[in-house]
Amino acid sequence: DPEVKKGVEAVERGEMVFIFDSDSREGETDFVIAASAITPDDVRWMRRDGGGLICTALADEVCTTLGLPFMADLLAEGAGRWPAIGNIVEQAGDLAYDSRSSFSIWVNHRDTRTGIPDNDRALTINKLAEISEKGRNGEAVVFGDDFRAPGHVALLRAAEGLVENRRGQTELSVALAQMAGITPVMVVCEMLDDTNGKALSKEDARTYAQLHGCVFLEGAQITKVYKEWVARQ
Ligand code: 5RP
Ligand code: ZN
Ligand code: CA
Repeated sequence: DPEVKKGVEAVERGEMVFIFDSDSREGETDFVIAASAITPDDVRWMRRDGGGLICTALADEVCTTLGLPFMADLLAEGAGRWPAIGNIVEQAGDLAYDSRSSFSIWVNHRDTRTGIPDNDRALTINKLAEISEKGRNGEAVVFGDDFRAPGHVALLRAAEGLVENRRGQTELSVALAQMAGITPVMVVCEMLDDTNGKALSKEDARTYAQLHGCVFLEGAQITKVYKEWVARQ
């Protein structure tokens, strides 16, 4: 698929790409860029023209190395202690579009002040890529030495086996990173429609991507190419 190839090359170069998951899932398009490459200008671009939540998706093995949990598991552990947490944790069937969310914790890098300005969020995200790469290279890392929580960057933990087990932008974006051979830590942000507040339609998202000279991919395209890529490894 030449479009997926272009997408992988763009991700490798640190450029923005767009991923629509599928009509049968969220039906949303996300801005997607490598965490190692994101700049404060990219954060501004995502929050102005995307308008969703700016999240950092990390490969499952990176989360294991760093010790990052799913938020749902963390909340489940607090259930007996805090009445509001008691029955709050998402259950199978709670989400209309998937069996579970990919949310992990929220963090700020320790060198940020409030954590929300474009430069603070870009720094937190760049440093997430950095510590992930160190962890992957076998260096001993202590996540809390560099980051504090709660913070202003939402972390997402990708499913083990990526698209084999879940097909959100969390997994689709990390699959692109793997094929690109870069640190499997990616930034995503949903595109919302300023005229009605809903998710931007696929057609409008595709037009927007074209206007900005960016690759637009659908989940099914990435899934197919990724499975073939895995089979070749
Ligand atoms: C976080 C989200 C987004 O939809 C994002 O695309 C990641 O989630 P998923 O992998 O479920 O699509 O919910 O803002
Ligand atoms: Zn989502
Ligand atoms: Ca999504």
